[in-house]
Amino acid sequence: MKPVPKFFNTAGPMKPELHYCIDPLTRFDLEEIESLIRQNKYFILHAPRQTGKTSCLLALRDYINKQGEFYAVYANVEGGQAFRNDVKTVESRVVGTIAERAAMTLQSDLPRDLFHKVAASPEQDRLALYLKMLSEALDKPLLLFIDEIDALVGDSLVSVLRQLRSGYDLRPQAFPQSIILCGVRDVRDYRIVLSNQDIVTGGSAFNIKAESLRLGNFSREEIHQLYMQHTAATGQVFDEACFPQIWEATEGQPWLVNALGYEVTMNMRENRDRSVRIIPEMMYRAQERLIYRRDTHIDILIDKLREERVRNVIAPILANEDGEVEQHLKDDDIQYVVDMGLVVRDKPLRIANAIYREVISQANL
Ligand SMILES: Nc1ncnc2c1ncn2[C@@H]1O[C@H](COP(=O)(O)OP(=O)(O)O)[C@@H](O)[C@H]1O
Ligand SMILES: [Mg+2]
Repeated sequence: MKPVPKFFNTAGPMKPELHYCIDPLTRFDLEEIESLIRQNKYFILHAPRQTGKTSCLLALRDYINKQGEFYAVYANVEGGQAFRNDVKTVESRVVGTIAERAAMTLQSDLPRDLFHKVAASPEQDRLALYLKMLSEALDKPLLLFIDEIDALVGDSLVSVLRQLRSGYDLRPQAFPQSIILCGVRDVRDYRIVLSNQDIVTGGSAFNIKAESLRLGNFSREEIHQLYMQHTAATGQVFDEACFPQIWEATEGQPWLVNALGYEVTMNMRENRDRSVRIIPEMMYRAQERLIYRRDTHIDILIDKLREERVRNVIAPILANEDGEVEQHLKDDDIQYVVDMGLVVRDKPLRIANAIYREVISQANL
């Protein structure tokens, strides 16, 4: 079979054999992460939606497992989302996911066998028990990467965070040596509403002095490098004048960068003729089409605008209440909207890129 030509990925984590790709391991400070792991730290990796968090975690997992010193297990806890405050069901989902992923990584049935043991046990905190039993059973320290931690809410989130903390003193022999919690925000900043309406912060439930790393957007060089992969693969040339425009439109937001690339090289059919040179006017049209089409990425953005604290920050920016905007806003609200990737902390605050600006101003707050 002929190999499928590569393309710009607009759907989920990277597969470098299929997609034009910036090596995920170059997108964060790998040395720092390795050092945190060696120091037995628990830490947080966060960034807005579709920045490449999952791609980075998966690449890190594979990189570490190849070295052979640790077992790195990736688990996505998003499956617990639907069960809201049902602590037991969420816990069982989370443990089940970790067990499945561990079984794949270790290529052994042990993690599944332990899961069944734990499920049958009268113990209350089954996530903690499971991590303890698994860590003890392994011949190398366990590293656990938990993705989409912010899919969990309320009592369930608190229970999971509390249990992850509970074995901290047992690491690395009887608990994971290092845990990475990955989500959109720093989980310690959440105000978690419990089923009894009490509010606790993530930081009090996960009371571990942890580092927090934020994954950034692509630089201009990375955008260029990504698009050049298309040129190298197909011979199709981008006029150099396209690049300042791609930057302006996206400011390096990874999904937007790919979505523009896909639009202009694939969805705009006439450009599938690879002898067509891509010029700024085409990039501009791709941008308009993207905004008009309202992919999920854009739709979720518009959805966010319904939240009062988001509007509190965005509305004065749109109204161009220059310079003074910040003084009237709660820093918590600003941080929230920055963490969502909607706004950047320039002076004055501003919408993160031209595409978002256009989408937001069309949304009629
Ligand atoms: N290393 C990368 N190289 C190129 N594009 C990337 C890379 N990482 C992420 N992206 C872009 O971001 C999108 C989301 O990636 P993903 O890892 O699922 O992010 P997240 O977990 O932050 O939502 C991808 O579909 C792709 O468009
Ligand atoms: Mg993800």
